[in-house]
Amino acid sequence: MTDFNPNETVKAAGGGAAMRKVFVKTYGCQMNVYDSQRMSDALSGEGFVPTETIEDADLVLLNTCHIREKAAEKIYSELGRIRDMKAERAERGLGTQVAVAGCVAQAEGQEIIDRASVVDLVIGPQTYHRLPHALKRVEAGEKVVEIDYAVEDKFEALPNAPKKAIANRGVTAFLTVQEGCDKFCTFCVVPYTRGAEVSRSFLQILGEAKRLVDAGVREITLLGQNVNAWDGEDEAGQPIGLGGLLHRLAAIAGLKRLRYTTSHPRDMDDELIAAHRDLPQLMPYLHLPVQSGSDSILKAMNRRHTGEQYLRLLDRIRAARPDIALSGDFIVGFPGESDADFEDTMRMVETVGYASAFSFKYSPRPGTPGAEMDGHVSEAVKDERLQRLQALLRRQQVSFAEGLVGELLDVLIEKPGRHAGQLVGRSPYLQPVVLPETAGAIGDVIPATIHSAVANSLVAVGALMPDLNAAPRPSPVARTLA
Ligand code: 5AD
Ligand code: SF4
Repeated sequence: MTDFNPNETVKAAGGGAAMRKVFVKTYGCQMNVYDSQRMSDALSGEGFVPTETIEDADLVLLNTCHIREKAAEKIYSELGRIRDMKAERAERGLGTQVAVAGCVAQAEGQEIIDRASVVDLVIGPQTYHRLPHALKRVEAGEKVVEIDYAVEDKFEALPNAPKKAIANRGVTAFLTVQEGCDKFCTFCVVPYTRGAEVSRSFLQILGEAKRLVDAGVREITLLGQNVNAWDGEDEAGQPIGLGGLLHRLAAIAGLKRLRYTTSHPRDMDDELIAAHRDLPQLMPYLHLPVQSGSDSILKAMNRRHTGEQYLRLLDRIRAARPDIALSGDFIVGFPGESDADFEDTMRMVETVGYASAFSFKYSPRPGTPGAEMDGHVSEAVKDERLQRLQALLRRQQVSFAEGLVGELLDVLIEKPGRHAGQLVGRSPYLQPVVLPETAGAIGDVIPATIHSAVANSLVAVGALMPDLNAAPRPSPVARTLA
């Protein structure tokens, strides 16, 4: 799953008698963002209210990512700062509990407390429903490590988000439908940190989606490490896959947009491809990582498909939904990657033409087969390859955005803009779109003509951009701007 803003703090619902404060910091992917929200919901039932000021927090909760070494190491530098803060609070007579959740917690367990004694609680992603109970043990003076794979269904056991909390989070929402991975790509820690593939039940998902829409959500992104491996049974007990699930969700009145991420090429079945053809709510934007364009590297990565098979799959998806835009993930410098292998990746990117993509230097992860392979690539070569790949991907992203200038796009209005007189929405392709405040209300999907593409955003005709002194790109619609 793709990395997300590492600095996002998550608001929990207010309420409760004791009014303790919790500061939540989320690292890594969208699944962690979702999990942080669910933990915040569980904590709000225990009387915790959110704070965005870490110094005020009675409980600091770090929801961590283990996907690459850098992500994991960040946690320890953060814990160093938290240790100082805890000492300062102690001088003021205030106690502070420190909890580490997420994939570093699952992977390192007790080691975290051994390395950073400021930590009181280590809790893995499969046991979040036990968080309130674990905190009570911490309050009683214990150091707690909760990383067993729970037998009970954590989603069943976690409280539903209060309507007000959902509404505070805005008109777009994540909904985890599947967790874990059975694919065992040789670079990846996910099968070890998140365990085997597990699908949430259809009825649980449907219930949650309806509650989200009822609270004002207009766009739902279904999440899973391998979301298109989702399977379940519909109301009638008939087996369905992700395509079938999307059909059922699209029928919820008031739900305007659906997305899903992250998919594996091997799990893109006909039903799912047909959903792209048949469901106007399903946005024409697909994150479908290929990781490498070289067949021998794909084999060493255990991706279990070739570059050619990936391209033929894209042909089928594009036949179903010709305007679909693609996004992907790439790893450079996997063990054994030669110059020629890397050129295959560059060629693959040239052939596909991505609207956006994430690319990373290979980071050996303890316990994964890749870490033990021969032929590790030097940092210097990884750096050079990453720069070349990112320059190409960036050019493709810019040209995709510029190609939208003059087009009429459906935009979901999400929030007020940074400047007075502005609103910000999302294009079907996930780009932020700056709109004039007259465009509509938050939650509306409105047609907007694109005036220009600036940095990572699109600007709609009529939007005020007081911070931009660059001359607007000439376009057929530029004259209508002040
Ligand atoms: N090194 C570098 N990148 C990795 N990813 C996963 N594991 C590693 C690793 N060990 C990347 C993949 C995946 C994305 C979420 O992170 O590209 O799709
Ligand atoms: Fe990791 Fe591969 Fe599973 Fe994705 S499909 S989570 S990259 S093992």
